[in-house]
Amino acid sequence: MLASGSGTNLQTLIDDPDVKGHIACVVSDKPSALALERARQGGIPAEVVSWGKHGSRELFSIALADVVEKHGGKGVILAGFMRILSKPFVDRFPGRVINIHPSLLPSFPGRRAVEDALSHGVKVSGVTVHFVDEQVDHGPIIAQRAVPVRSDDTVETLHARVQEEEYQLYPEVVRAFVDGRLGLVDGKVVWD
Ligand code: GAR
Repeated sequence: MLASGSGTNLQTLIDDPDVKGHIACVVSDKPSALALERARQGGIPAEVVSWGKHGSRELFSIALADVVEKHGGKGVILAGFMRILSKPFVDRFPGRVINIHPSLLPSFPGRRAVEDALSHGVKVSGVTVHFVDEQVDHGPIIAQRAVPVRSDDTVETLHARVQEEEYQLYPEVVRAFVDGRLGLVDGKVVWD
């Protein structure tokens, strides 16, 4: 698992008995990420691969992939990981990198998804889980849930309702992935 921030999605995965045993490690680009503490509390190895110590996105991505493999990780779940992974990383885990994003992709990729959705005045936003390629918040879509936008929503209130959906959807998808019921075949998402 890769995480950069508070790790509330990570926590729902740690709390899922069908998922927890499959988590080889949690790796963050940020030493201060609360996600690392959540991993340690759950008895899961936690490591930092700091962005600043690597001279380029490629070298950072390779160092990350090395740490994941060192812990025996066969697939990678991004849970609020805020760095772009380059091709050398994605190629090491073909069809085995999954991300969650707080908008209905392909609308509003990037770090400010909820803010961008609100400022465009969309009436429905939501959450997307997708296989990852080397573009930002991009790749074959696995599942989506819609969240209606209210006229008085702020970034905080809308994100909170989107996250409620995230906490339902991500464990469902990750359970299917670790069970081998979900995969990517010839660029297409396949569920058993
Ligand atoms: C989540 O809302 C997730 O969808 C988003 O970061 C948040 C992390 O929260 N991810 C992205 O924006 C990816 N582009 P968390 O650390 O509390 O799970």
